[in-house]
Amino acid sequence: MTPAQLKLNGNLYELPLVVGTEDEVGIDISRLRADTGAITLDPGYANTGSCTSSITFIDGERGILRYRGYPIEEIAAEASFVEVCYLLIYGHLPSRDELARFDGELTHHSLIHEDMKKFFEGFPPSAHPMAILSAMVASLSSYYPKGDDAEDMHLNIIRLLSKAKTIAAFSYKKSIGQPFVYPHNDLSYTENFLRMMFAVPAEEYRVPKVLDRALNLLLILHADHEQNCSTSTVRMVGSSQANLFASVSAGICALWGPLHGGANQKVIDMLQRIQADGGNYQKYVEMAKDKESPFRLMGFGHRVYKNFDPRARILERAADDVLREMGTADPLLEIAKNLEQVALEDPFFIERKLYPNVDFYSGILYRAMGIPTEMFTVMFALGRLPGWIAQWKELVEDPKARIGRPRQVYTGEGLRPWVPMSKRDMLGADEAKKTKKKEREPALVT
Ligand code: CMC
Repeated sequence: MTPAQLKLNGNLYELPLVVGTEDEVGIDISRLRADTGAITLDPGYANTGSCTSSITFIDGERGILRYRGYPIEEIAAEASFVEVCYLLIYGHLPSRDELARFDGELTHHSLIHEDMKKFFEGFPPSAHPMAILSAMVASLSSYYPKGDDAEDMHLNIIRLLSKAKTIAAFSYKKSIGQPFVYPHNDLSYTENFLRMMFAVPAEEYRVPKVLDRALNLLLILHADHEQNCSTSTVRMVGSSQANLFASVSAGICALWGPLHGGANQKVIDMLQRIQADGGNYQKYVEMAKDKESPFRLMGFGHRVYKNFDPRARILERAADDVLREMGTADPLLEIAKNLEQVALEDPFFIERKLYPNVDFYSGILYRAMGIPTEMFTVMFALGRLPGWIAQWKELVEDPKARIGRPRQVYTGEGLRPWVPMSKRDMLGADEAKKTKKKEREPALVT
């Protein structure tokens, strides 16, 4: 492949290409400003690669997602979440011994410092669990400030993966006024989380197998998704050499928004609203199409997937299976399927290639598992932890990594002299006069 050429102000510049494993082409513009004085402008970074990475591959046109080369469908069918954590973070499938060691380390670091329990007392009962999770994850850095060598880094990775689930479960217990349930070393990562969420000291709790399998699947499907909003945030914060806990805490905040991980909570709100409104799907599809309305079909559309989201396909099937196995029915599943059908037949959604994304069906599964709606985005965060960690590690281990620092095209006022306070009222009156005059001027029609 020959380099790209750029013609600017009559000068011709050659821009080298970077070609990925799957023949994805990137135009390397790292010398653009130095050579031409110009920068690129790409709001929302839809065309901008911020790094090369060997962790996750997505082909949005063909609905392909792979972690370290392995297809998500095979991983979802075969792996445990802990295995996926290892694969993403350390780059290869663990041997039996490596997995046993890693699993053991995760088990033995799951307690949080007893002092940290007091933090929960400071939050109001109405606190969103994402606020608690992000604050507590950042706080971990005050207990584990060392991160200088590979051993510290590994230990901090284990601590974060292991303690985050304890923090998440404790934040739920705090919100419902129940005592914290401590982790149990005989249980697996996912069993431990479910027990800390649902057990009470007054009785025995056995983790239902169906819940354990469903949780494992959900966490795996969320584990990484290359350079999305929260992962780019983790990398951006990490690029200033902030520690792992601070970087991931920032990622948790970025995930919280309804256009990203917060969508799973909003999907359920939307489905309930449609249910309460008599199941009029068409009305909501019309509202989502109306440019005057801020309403969007939550759980629909994706920046990268323009065909289907493979995670949504797996989850739709899993929702059916889990509900059947649990012997329960959820009217929201029926509503979701009908809404999907109406939207997928509508030219607006067809033209824009809008399909259900991972958040569309995940909430139905969480509901079936008894996880409250407010905790949905926390569940996403727990699943995404290994991805954030792997991407942070890749960044800090890259000798060529630089601090993240985008540029801008300035469109504000040109140079003007400072106005002393005594003259500003007068200036305000002048400005108001100017605006009134402008309002009176008729629009030019050409
Ligand atoms: N409902 C209605 N219209 C939509 C939707 C939607 N859910 N998503 C996109 N569109 C329209 C949008 O109005 C625009 O139309 P037009 O070209 O006429 O202006 C067009 O489709 C392209 O949308 P966009 O907002 O420019 O696309 P984007 O790539 O910037 O945003 C998105 C992607 C996921 C934020 C967006 O599709 C969306 O808001 N979806 C709903 C929220 C959601 O489900 N988020 C979870 C994403 S998956 C989990 C994760 O990884 O975060």
